[in-house]
Amino acid sequence: MHTDVKELFANLWQNYVAVTPSAKNVHRLLGSSQQDDVINDHIALRTFNLEKVGLEKLAAHFIALGYEECGEYHFEAKKLYAKHYEHPDRSLPKVFISELLLDKCSVYLRDTITALVEQIPAEAVTADNFLYSGTHWQVSQATYEKLLAESEYAAWVSAWGYRANHFTVSVNDLHSFDTLEQVNTALKDAGFLLNTSGGEIKGTPEVYLEQSSTLADLHPVQFSDTVATIPSCFYEFARRYPLANGVLYTGFVAASADKIFESTNAR
Ligand code: NI
Repeated sequence: MHTDVKELFANLWQNYVAVTPSAKNVHRLLGSSQQDDVINDHIALRTFNLEKVGLEKLAAHFIALGYEECGEYHFEAKKLYAKHYEHPDRSLPKVFISELLLDKCSVYLRDTITALVEQIPAEAVTADNFLYSGTHWQVSQATYEKLLAESEYAAWVSAWGYRANHFTVSVNDLHSFDTLEQVNTALKDAGFLLNTSGGEIKGTPEVYLEQSSTLADLHPVQFSDTVATIPSCFYEFARRYPLANGVLYTGFVAASADKIFESTNAR
């Protein structure tokens, strides 16, 4: 496990931009200058509820660095369960980890994913680089497509493995933008495609969190039999509102996150 939290995020970021080249353009658009760097609200990771790689196994990498468990979320239709983690150092990104509940999926999906996870060496899960280690298996394009027909989430992890699914700009910390509407307009003017599922902006000031996201980049992936271009990762934007006590809300809104998951849908 990493002992340096900044190094962990730097490595997650490098691994993410390698398949999400548009993220650098987003940074340039919103960050504007070197001292005006983009602060990340959170990152998100995906996994399966198998003993070997369940969300607690991913979370252990962050707990070891001082992160604490803060909230849990249920996504019935997508068959997902998630928790979020925060660090006492508020400048560090929150971490949102979800897992697909395989016991609620088809026998085909469960067996296929279980066989992939069995190929991960046990020691790889606690290694420094696990959270950005990609796949430890190979799937064919046909397997990917069959998984995709049942669960976009399962198909995505089968193709991309362990890596940040998205980074999220903290709109509150941007100097050149005040609202999420302004950020969205700048993104669209620059040619970015936004996720419109549930509207461009998910959430409201009443739930203390507004979120939007780009559609995932389309990036080549190496399947066992061919190379194909599929959705990789995306960039999210979050604006948080203060609670009655004046402190910014730090949790997530399940109804909004449910729609954000669709940023990696095939198109
Ligand atoms: Ni997110």
